[in-house]
Amino acid sequence: MRDFLAKKIVEMPSSGIRKFFDIVTEMPDAISLGVGEPDFDTPWPIREEAIRAIKAGKTFYTANAGLSELRKAVCDYTARKIGVSYAPATECFISVGGSEAIDLAFRATLEEGDEVIIPQPCFVSYEPCVKMAGGVPVTIALKEENAFRLQPEELETAITPRTKALFISYPNNPTGAIMEKEDLEKLVPIILEHDLLVITDEIYSELTYGGKNHFSIAALPGIKERCIYVNGFSKAFAMTGWRLGYAMAPAAIMHEMIKIHQYCIMSSPTISQYAAVYAMTDGDAETQMMRQAYDRRRKYLMRRFSDMDIPCFEPKGAFYIFPNIQEFGMTSEEFALELLQRKKVAVVPGSAFGCCGEGFLRISYAYSLDDLRVAFDRIEEFIRELRKEKA
Ligand SMILES: Cc1ncc(COP(=O)(O)O)c(C=O)c1O
Repeated sequence: MRDFLAKKIVEMPSSGIRKFFDIVTEMPDAISLGVGEPDFDTPWPIREEAIRAIKAGKTFYTANAGLSELRKAVCDYTARKIGVSYAPATECFISVGGSEAIDLAFRATLEEGDEVIIPQPCFVSYEPCVKMAGGVPVTIALKEENAFRLQPEELETAITPRTKALFISYPNNPTGAIMEKEDLEKLVPIILEHDLLVITDEIYSELTYGGKNHFSIAALPGIKERCIYVNGFSKAFAMTGWRLGYAMAPAAIMHEMIKIHQYCIMSSPTISQYAAVYAMTDGDAETQMMRQAYDRRRKYLMRRFSDMDIPCFEPKGAFYIFPNIQEFGMTSEEFALELLQRKKVAVVPGSAFGCCGEGFLRISYAYSLDDLRVAFDRIEEFIRELRKEKA
């Protein structure tokens, strides 16, 4: 029999996060700080809208691009949040999570061999999606001393005649870094000079701390017309399982993205779409409550790492913390495995998010303060032991 498998898929490694959590599922008494999803239930009013939709029999396909009332609500929400206006009928579509929107952004724009610049550490799907679309990922190793923000000279150096797009994602998974307006402005002349497409994944836009609201690169002059903006409901509204996201882009790009969506998906989950209208129009207070809880946990973890004398970059967004564990002279995978085996606490090795994540761990604080307290007591004990063994 022939080998039926596609070589480029066989050669693609599985996600470093999943690989690690296959081990965790074998350990029922382990505390996991690894998963990137809110610990909150989806707010009740959103769930009630879904129940209402089911009772009313609203269970059919929607338009390919999504319910028109949801697209309008998403465009109004985006205009209110980032100050950029999109036309619901031609510049917006409702996707199956931010994940599908990211995939389609690449598939609709890349020709074989086109290069996409991806700053790392970053979420695990970007590189594989670029490759599956025939593109070539070109990674930039972001530096802790730059607060994991993309520097203009780093971007300039990564550009070649084959570069088609710059992909960015702030607030960032896994570092919790943000980029402010002044940081983003410095990238604009380079983007314009090299005629780059910008793809921006802003799925954590509602989760920023320290009084600064999120700023989108799409809001800078000259960017909207060359930008695919991706966001979704999973993080801001604790709706991971509803599988709903959205993208905004100039009409010509959006038309092609929707064409792929039409053939591969048809339409995003209908009941979720009805529920999501509420999230967009009346969900701010719920998001605010969750953001405040994440912020309390973030401050608690910063304090714990400081007490342990572990250098830790202060996250300004998302719900991850990214401590530096280089002093122990272990790879981040060795550290994480040892922590799991000895203290039954699961965290994700920084290397799962790109080579430059080596020497760091990603710890999610989408867990209750009680769980975090127990887990951090164990982490502290582990670190004490490691230091003693090394001494
Ligand atoms: C940075 C980032 N982008 C996109 C996603 C995908 O989210 P979803 O497909 O649930 O909207 C995630 C999920 O963890 C993420 O962390």
